[in-house]
Amino acid sequence: MEQYVIKGGNSLTGEVEIGGAKNAALAIIAAAIMTDETVVIDNLPDVRDVNVMIGAMEDIGVHIERPDPHTVKINATTIGRLSVDYEYIKKIRASYYLLGALLGKYKKAEVALPGGCDIGSRPIDLHVKGFKSMGADVDLSYGLISVNAKRLIGNHIYMDKVSVGATINIMMAATLAEGKTTIENAAKEPHVVDVANFLNSMGANIRGAGTDVIRIHGVNKLHGTEYSVIPDQIEAGTFMFAAAITGGDVLVKNVIPKHLEATSSKLIDAGCQIVEYDDAVRVIGRGKLVNTQVTTLPYPGFPTDMQPQMTVVLGVAEGVSTVNESIFENRFKYVDELARMGANIQVEGNIAIIRGVEGYEGARVSAPDLRAGAALVIAGLAAKGVTIIDDIHYIQRGYERFEEKLRGIGAVIEKTDSEQQIDRFIERVS
Ligand code: UD1
Repeated sequence: MEQYVIKGGNSLTGEVEIGGAKNAALAIIAAAIMTDETVVIDNLPDVRDVNVMIGAMEDIGVHIERPDPHTVKINATTIGRLSVDYEYIKKIRASYYLLGALLGKYKKAEVALPGGCDIGSRPIDLHVKGFKSMGADVDLSYGLISVNAKRLIGNHIYMDKVSVGATINIMMAATLAEGKTTIENAAKEPHVVDVANFLNSMGANIRGAGTDVIRIHGVNKLHGTEYSVIPDQIEAGTFMFAAAITGGDVLVKNVIPKHLEATSSKLIDAGCQIVEYDDAVRVIGRGKLVNTQVTTLPYPGFPTDMQPQMTVVLGVAEGVSTVNESIFENRFKYVDELARMGANIQVEGNIAIIRGVEGYEGARVSAPDLRAGAALVIAGLAAKGVTIIDDIHYIQRGYERFEEKLRGIGAVIEKTDSEQQIDRFIERVS
């Protein structure tokens, strides 16, 4: 089991380069199987979730070449099975994108019920509702979702709740359905738009992605394409928070500043200075951090995937802050770990009441999930003394070379995989 060991206290300064968006990449590589021609995708993040998805696709017979860690060449003519093994599904929830992709192309698919981060109940009723309304039979039994359609026919689908996954899944299936599909109350996240752009580059006819209403005219077939994944707004935001909490000055490069507006705005409220460029954002964290109130919301609201990182920053901001988690009901589990580092946070239902403390103290903590794990790293960077973070396999699901990138802007952080290595690190930095 690997750990991150961190000696906190350094102000982060310099430049950091952001990779491709994990959540866009997962859907895009799944959608690549919807054509028999070769698809080339680059700016792919080399992270565990993407590698698991590639494994799941290879397992059903998709031919995938990886000329370099950030590029894949996908050809799906060799698909031999329409059933995705539980082995992969239990590791990443996004493997359900293979349902929409296979259903669209082959009118049939079978995928085990999804796993992923344990951040609350994560139903799939909206995906099911969408597939059914296009004429598919959906069977949920023995831990499997089986979808089957003699004909897939476009329909008008209203989403009772804004869901990124259901919007993308329905959009994929509808791309190769007969006639017109309208998705109302669609998710507007940047990766929904990226997947729509990708499908359009393969010959799909999708309009309105990025608004509440997406209209899809089904086409008979899709063709090959070359596509570059958008930058990862959550990775970018994570580095922005790391700069803010350490009183640093960091230029976060290769980003789309518009996608970061909610994060930038909350950092400004908390007392940071933000300078936006065409494809970079500079965060200057000098001066005192101050309290603010945050509510997570679907895009363009403040992202739930940035909630733990924001809470960590507010944990050392002057005054009383509140963070209201409105998307997932179980996303404050990391607060107990943070309390071990000295935080004063009370969770009441979906609201965290944060009384800012002077600073964090290094401690040994465990990453409970991907983003909360990254948030604990941020706390460690600001803490007095050494912080040891266990269970970093969660963090590796979504951050590529995280410790290397942090070291590049002045952090003292290492990856270890034994108690001896931890002891040596502590000796060296004390
Ligand atoms: C995606 C992201 C995840 C992010 C989340 C919200 C990926 C791989 N993951 O997850 O990182 O935290 O968006 O931005 O892209 N819901 C239902 N029924 C459904 C589906 C969802 O009630 O059928 C509810 C969920 O319980 C949740 C809300 O809708 O309360 C939003 O979930 P959704 O947007 O679907 O999240 P994911 O696509 O799973």
